Amino acid sequence: MEIENPMAFIVNALLFFNFYAFGGWVVEVVFRSANRGRFVNAGFLYGPFLPIYGFGTVTVIGFHTLFPDSNIILQTLAYGLAISGTEYLTGTISERLFGFTLWDYHGNRLNLKGRICLKYSLLWTGAALLLVMFIHPFVERTFSFIDERHRVWVATLGAAYFLVDATVSVIAVTSFKKRVLYLRSQYLFIDNERIQSTIGSFRRLLDAFPRLHVYLHGQITGGIKSRAESLLTVFGETPRKTREEERANDAEYLRIVADIEQNEDFLRLRDFKHHDDTILNHVEAVSYLAYRICKRLRLDFRSAARGGLLHDFFLYDWRNHDAPDLPREKYHGFEHPKIAMENAERHFKLNEIERDIILKHMWPLTLVPPRYKESFIVTFVDKYVSSREFLKGMRSNGKPNEKRNY
Ligand SMILES: [Fe+2]
Ligand SMILES: [Fe+2]
Repeated sequence: MEIENPMAFIVNALLFFNFYAFGGWVVEVVFRSANRGRFVNAGFLYGPFLPIYGFGTVTVIGFHTLFPDSNIILQTLAYGLAISGTEYLTGTISERLFGFTLWDYHGNRLNLKGRICLKYSLLWTGAALLLVMFIHPFVERTFSFIDERHRVWVATLGAAYFLVDATVSVIAVTSFKKRVLYLRSQYLFIDNERIQSTIGSFRRLLDAFPRLHVYLHGQITGGIKSRAESLLTVFGETPRKTREEERANDAEYLRIVADIEQNEDFLRLRDFKHHDDTILNHVEAVSYLAYRICKRLRLDFRSAARGGLLHDFFLYDWRNHDAPDLPREKYHGFEHPKIAMENAERHFKLNEIERDIILKHMWPLTLVPPRYKESFIVTFVDKYVSSREFLKGMRSNGKPNEKRNY
């Protein structure tokens, strides 16, 4: 192996980097947009580039150019290592730089810190073989029609554009992190519209980073938790029996939820299990705790009480369900907010906050964040109450009954 013309080698590397970074962006945009049913920009850059595709392909092509005669087994191994190495390194750098992951393979078997996993490494290796055998020879031939001077220009301009875009995008991510910290500390004290516009400004990045809503959820929950800790000490840590008694004697609360508590269909929730309790007991506990916290914070406690009571209005056993309520192949975690909403709307007139509470209470499992503070408090209280029920189940059985699926 010997590079005859190092300058031409570098120019080619830059050209192909730009071309494949653009090609990777097109593939991901088509894939993600088809999945979401609307246009989704992929990657954290403003422009149409996914640098990881550029780096991955240039490494593979570089190896192929330097060792053109190596046998297929050696090539396969080298491509696998090169691509997994690029993916692992990009994952590590972005985690260090941004503080959150660009992708997450933790759900896949045989993964390394969630940054790479066997399944995708094999897939990318296959793609690399296709690239050097079929795609790249064609691309190379097409590029060879561009004369030398233009090649240098295109490569330089492409690289310069990439550097500018990368710098601006990294600044945008830094400012995003600042705004998240602002939300974390001020969430309970700013109005819903301000929250809306701030979360709305995250849309591009939430699209770009599939796991970012989990980070956002963790940050806001952490903020609410530290602010609401004193409230939880007052309300949450009250022994359950005492809280049930308080609820039974709270005339204002009972007036707010009276029509729901008298509805026969709603009362059927007592026939369905939720961890080691009934769904009725679970939603009553969530509703009352959310009502007390919202009242203390001078929020819309009426909507919190009603939305909290209706948030799990589904009439089936979630561990063993089937049509007509929820077909067996559908996943309860994603579907039950919509089913609860349909049931609630069949019997009651809901306001916007109550609808948001019911539909978004599984966030971050559902991608769209809650619109209102009251919704966020219900999702938070729901998780809190469920984990207490779960722990209680663990204590009485010595093991958890089921995977949590509030
Ligand atoms: Fe739920
Ligand atoms: Fe729940």
